[in-house]
Amino acid sequence: MTYYDDIAEGYEELHREEQLKKIEIIKQYFKPKKEEKLLDVGCGSGISTENWNCKTYGIDPSEKLVQIAKQKGIECEVAKAENIPCEDHSFDYIISITAIQNFDNIEKGLQEIKRVGKENFVLTFLKRSPKREKIEQAIDKIFTIRKTIEEEKDIIIIV
Ligand SMILES: C[S@@+](CC[C@H](N)C(=O)[O-])C[C@H]1O[C@@H](n2cnc3c(N)ncnc32)[C@H](O)[C@@H]1O
Repeated sequence: MTYYDDIAEGYEELHREEQLKKIEIIKQYFKPKKEEKLLDVGCGSGISTENWNCKTYGIDPSEKLVQIAKQKGIECEVAKAENIPCEDHSFDYIISITAIQNFDNIEKGLQEIKRVGKENFVLTFLKRSPKREKIEQAIDKIFTIRKTIEEEKDIIIIV
């Protein structure tokens, strides 16, 4: 049982609005085509997985949040970023929205994201996270940063 399982029932009420603001910004840079595949790492209840005009798939370790996402018709499964159950380079786009600060092993999670992706990634994490510097360094080490955007609550990095 994770922290996110505990708060799953109230998650959307608490966070939907702020998460949608981040997605709006990301959609200005990311415009996948209908036939392209997008993976959402740490998809939670699917707020960040919904309403993309392409094929989407999500993973998240919280069974309860994944159950909520499935009830909304989102294709997803219970899994962690550190061990993504997908083949190498199988997604055109990968997003991970406000989840990296929760990874057990940040470098391993980011390496896995790189392994299953191709060349379009957007990674966001909480500005106020005590792991902020560690996350920024790990992203810089593993990817080539194209753009950094400071949003109200998150740092949004496009790589
Ligand atoms: C703030 S929520 C964001 C959820 C979703 N991306 C959204 O925008 O609503 C953080 C998510 O990170 C997930 N998470 C925690 N540890 C993780 C890990 N090791 N790998 C992937 N996701 C993880 C949590 O279960 C939770 O759903």
